[in-house]
Amino acid sequence: MANSSRAPGRSRRLRAALVVSAAVGLLATAGAVVLPGSASAASTLGASAAERGRYFGTAVAVSRLNDSAYTTILNREFNQVTAENEMKIDALQPNQGQFNYGNADRLVQHARSQGMLVRGHTLAWHSQQPGWMQNMSGTTLRNAMLNHVTQVATHFRGQIEWWDVVNEAFADGSSGARRDSNLQRTGNDWIEAAFRAARQADPNADLCYNDYNIDNWNDAKTQAVYRMVQDFKSRGVPIDCVGLQSHFTGGSNYPSNYRTTLSSFAALGVDVHITELDIRNAPTDAYRNVVNDCLAVARCKGITVWGIRDSDSWRSSENPLLFNGSGQKKPAYDAVLAALNNGTTPPTGNPTTTPPTGNPTTPPPGGGCTATVTPGQVWGDRYNTSVTVSGASTWSVVVAITAPQKISATWSGSPTWDSSGNVMTMRSNGSGNTFGFTTMMNGNSSARPQIRSCTAG
Ligand code: G3I
Repeated sequence: MANSSRAPGRSRRLRAALVVSAAVGLLATAGAVVLPGSASAASTLGASAAERGRYFGTAVAVSRLNDSAYTTILNREFNQVTAENEMKIDALQPNQGQFNYGNADRLVQHARSQGMLVRGHTLAWHSQQPGWMQNMSGTTLRNAMLNHVTQVATHFRGQIEWWDVVNEAFADGSSGARRDSNLQRTGNDWIEAAFRAARQADPNADLCYNDYNIDNWNDAKTQAVYRMVQDFKSRGVPIDCVGLQSHFTGGSNYPSNYRTTLSSFAALGVDVHITELDIRNAPTDAYRNVVNDCLAVARCKGITVWGIRDSDSWRSSENPLLFNGSGQKKPAYDAVLAALNNGTTPPTGNPTTTPPTGNPTTPPPGGGCTATVTPGQVWGDRYNTSVTVSGASTWSVVVAITAPQKISATWSGSPTWDSSGNVMTMRSNGSGNTFGFTTMMNGNSSARPQIRSCTAG
């Protein structure tokens, strides 16, 4: 496989830990006392999403970071950011061979200082190409595109969780064809070539295909992207995720089969992300539905809205966002937060606090500390576990999961993984002596985590 050199699942789980630790940071700042998995209602979008093992992000225009009203909302509410324009090709390579990372680096630094995850947008796109690239074709363009992918992904290596490697490569309408563009004219394999170059440059970033109007499962464009992802997975092209932009503005509406679309892509073995959400006039129902649909699909990793206040929107006349121009929360904000806070609605069955069968083990003492397991909430497809360490203030605890179960999120510790991905060593990270994790059952509802050891220091 093209991505065989990647540590299996490592970056994804690390990210999950980051998501939750970011939320803990936000909560600490806000003075709230909410632990992941607890029944308390989080008071911000990012913190609430993190409790569900997800992120809630926004597009950011770097120029607005000087606006304190904007930055106050950004820092309080969101735990993920996407550069609205600053990582596009024309912004990063205005002249061939001359890279301009200033604004993008500023956003990354801001995000890192706030514990926010960064989505890179976008490495290869028919639009927002600098003039020198617009005029290119054939092998020259292909090589210039691949060089851009390599240079940019290398520059940001280790700082980007997900790259929109290729953006908007399919045509609208009923054709199901690729969009005509100078990149498409270099050969149909330009997309997979971009993904391979991105993987080589940054093996730990998740690589996404991102597009709009792929929300309705019945649309030819959705089906065409689905077939491409299916093909890529079958041939080992390194793709990890699909981004549904979900601009329900202009002429597009939230489709009632949106959840089917999310779960169908996820069933191909990729994560799904809602990457550029905005909805004309911000109706509470549609915003609530989008959140519930994401929460219902385990591989839906998070939601990014395309701007903070209506006045920040690329379609500001439609007032499509969660905050009004004065920075006040709109009814859609309340609907989203409530949906996130209530978001334990599982695909099947209701949450219960008792594991169906098999209790978690309490580990043998030894190694200078003791790790005690407390079962957490159980849903139809996953369950939470807390582990409390006594006898040491710094420690590492080894936890084994029975395949096909898989840990999908962790909090309040720093995890590393063995090569199978099923043995996690959780180290203290200053977040206290209780860490937790979510385990996907993947068809095995009886196995429970085994604590193998607890070692002080
Ligand atoms: O910054 C210049 C300013 O100096 C100049 O005076 C002005 C004159 O037109 O242009 C300004 O740049 C504009 C830029 O937004 C910043 O406001 C560009 O013209 C304008 O084309 C650009 O539009 C962006 C658009 O992508 C095109 O790249 C929008 O902000 C941005 O929200 C939008 O985002 C896209 C996603 O990347 C992909 N999916 C669709 C989404 C919405 O179109």
